[in-house]
Amino acid sequence: MNHLLLLCRAGFERECAVEIQERAAVVGVYGFPRFKGESGYVEFVCQQANGAVQIMQRIDWRSLVFTRQWAACIAPLTDIPRNDRVGFFLQHLDGFPQCGEVWIEAADSEVGSGLQGLCRKLVPPLAAALRKAGVLTAKRDTQLERLYIGWMNESQVFIGLADPHLASPWPQGVMRLKFPPAAPSRSTLKLEEAWLFFLSEEARTAMLKPGMKAVDLGASPGGWTWQLANRYMKTTSVDNGPMDDALMAGGMVTHVEGDGFTYVPERPVDWMVCDIADKPARVIDLMTKWITRGWCRYTVFNLKLPMQKRYTTYQQCLEVLQTGCAEAELNVHIEARHLYHDREEITLFVCRDEDWRRVNGLS
Ligand SMILES: C[S@@+](CC[C@H](N)C(=O)[O-])C[C@H]1O[C@@H](n2cnc3c(N)ncnc32)[C@H](O)[C@@H]1O
Repeated sequence: MNHLLLLCRAGFERECAVEIQERAAVVGVYGFPRFKGESGYVEFVCQQANGAVQIMQRIDWRSLVFTRQWAACIAPLTDIPRNDRVGFFLQHLDGFPQCGEVWIEAADSEVGSGLQGLCRKLVPPLAAALRKAGVLTAKRDTQLERLYIGWMNESQVFIGLADPHLASPWPQGVMRLKFPPAAPSRSTLKLEEAWLFFLSEEARTAMLKPGMKAVDLGASPGGWTWQLANRYMKTTSVDNGPMDDALMAGGMVTHVEGDGFTYVPERPVDWMVCDIADKPARVIDLMTKWITRGWCRYTVFNLKLPMQKRYTTYQQCLEVLQTGCAEAELNVHIEARHLYHDREEITLFVCRDEDWRRVNGLS
């Protein structure tokens, strides 16, 4: 299998492509990406025969910023007959191992949304035929390979495999969350998704404790602050804009009407979160200052990427942060992700390496 199918947010195909080509080369797999703008997917064609599987084994899918989901596939199939799609797929499964489940997905794009219904409808008859042919276990088994069918457009379908331990557990790689009605803005879902994505359950228990102190920079109207207060953290929210009245009435929040770039906490806090939509270079300098001066222990923040050179901008910001921490002789754990609830921005999580090891029981 030398075709790697990668799903991403529509409009971010270039970033997804550049990232996978660069990361694959580091692990010794070479190839070239193919993509169309706004399609929501990238095909990475590997030179090595089993290159796509090797990439999935050698790169932790969680460490990719712009890829939501992936699968190692055979060359894409075209000219799918309308009258016998199930039979057509069965013909192309020679040499596939027995799988524990079958996923049929479209991209998260305009074209993809028109194919969702077809994908959903096809699952039951295809699963039945696959079971009969012995390609699928009688009962769902999430320890075995996932048979993955990516229906990317009317005439292009990818068939492949994804080891469930090496791919996203969420359909389309999208963590769908329910909006909490009491939260003052939809932005609240960004911080919730960040915590759920970056932190394991054990890490959440250790790092999101009632009574912790937090600062929210660029907080108005209070979606992120709501998440902090909802976990009973005493929160200082810095923004010249107004905060939600009901949130303020809860008694957990102090509103500082000021500039997030000049605000200095009286004492170090457990969490600093920042959703200020400013130039990424300015924001990363601010974040580096907070981390290296020990003003916060853990942080989640957003970097708004420009329309051009988004990947380069991300890399430059990462370098500033890494260099700043190295100069301060601080070992840090850094993760970055283009979350589902992000749009033109990406989200980073940073904490001290020793804290990361402790909360995750790593030696
Ligand atoms: C995307 S909104 C934040 C939304 C918020 N996280 C929520 O969940 O409701 C960005 C906010 O950053 C604030 N902002 C922009 N520049 C700022 C600065 N220099 N200092 C503090 N806040 C700033 C804006 O007033 C705006 O409210």
